Amino acid sequence: MTTILAIETSCDETAAAIVKNRKILSSVVASQIPIHQKYGGVVPEVASRRHLEIINTCISQAFTEASLDWDAIDAIAATVTPGLVGALLVGAVAAKTLAILQQKPFLGVHHLEGHIYATYLSQPHLKPPFLCLLVSGGHTSSIYVKDCGEYEILGTTRDDAAGEAFDKVARLLNLGYPGGPIIDRLAKIGDPQAFPLPEGKISLPGGGYHPYDSSFSGLKTAVLRLVQKLERDNKPIPVKDIAASFQETVGRSLAKKTIACAVDRQIKIIAVGGGVAANSGLRKHLIDAALPHDIQVYFPPLELCTDNAAMIGCAAVEHFDRGHTSPLTLSVKSRLPLTQVMELYRY
Ligand code: KG4
Ligand code: ZN
Repeated sequence: MTTILAIETSCDETAAAIVKNRKILSSVVASQIPIHQKYGGVVPEVASRRHLEIINTCISQAFTEASLDWDAIDAIAATVTPGLVGALLVGAVAAKTLAILQQKPFLGVHHLEGHIYATYLSQPHLKPPFLCLLVSGGHTSSIYVKDCGEYEILGTTRDDAAGEAFDKVARLLNLGYPGGPIIDRLAKIGDPQAFPLPEGKISLPGGGYHPYDSSFSGLKTAVLRLVQKLERDNKPIPVKDIAASFQETVGRSLAKKTIACAVDRQIKIIAVGGGVAANSGLRKHLIDAALPHDIQVYFPPLELCTDNAAMIGCAAVEHFDRGHTSPLTLSVKSRLPLTQVMELYRY
């Protein structure tokens, strides 16, 4: 049994958790959303300062909730990539300092590997290989999970990430930040067939379309043009119907590509991760599209879709159990391809 204290500060959630194998003993998430809302998006410098102010409180709360002390902890982990460098530094420096003080091993974790591992927390018996559809504010990828640390990217977005598209469309509808949960709420009471919108397709040089890659910028522009036309015609903006039509298009398009990828590769399990995995439209489309192919789709519970430290702890446990630890000289990086995740470890 391995127990890890994990810290996540890659963007706008300050989070600390204690995880024992694939079980959450405590998970504290202090969201900065109310702080960034007035700017319409995350302000990196503000995020770093806020992480610094509350990281210690989050860590002590994680210990209190788990009713544990340092003796129970085998290693300390923190997200080190990808993310906002100043924000990542706060969590990484906190974890390394505690590792030195408490004389425990340190593990740097790849944020996207954390999102993949979120599914293990609710499906502890899940085993690779499987396909992970990772849809967050910064990423949209279909990842073939061969084993811990072994990933192949089968599909990706050519422009905006899915969550970014939700946030941008919400902004142009004046709905506030973050846009995904607001659009999801409105879509439930809107008509998804009200406005036919284009699914982004990526043309291939030899003709036809890329079967798994996505594009969301054309869809976002189509929503913009629709709003502009309604404004020009002095018509009211049917926000609920636009939200529902947009969500329908994203859900249908992502589900189609993900299922095609699983069918082609003969993969029978899909694990969905990242903030957009919380989306009710995407969930419905994926479940419906998977059914005829006998494909099982797993979604983490809503609180594990968006950023949290429990998923970081879960990924760290798996690496630690395989003898992987990180040097204290490991630095944070704004980007690192998931396929290079093993660069974070000595083993
Ligand atoms: O995974 P996450 O918390 O942070 C990143 O690693 O990016 O994802 C945040 C993204 C935001 O773009 C947010 O709008 C989106 O996830 N999101 C949603 C929903 N909940 C969060 N998008 C669609 N529907 C939702 N219910
Ligand atoms: Zn994330």
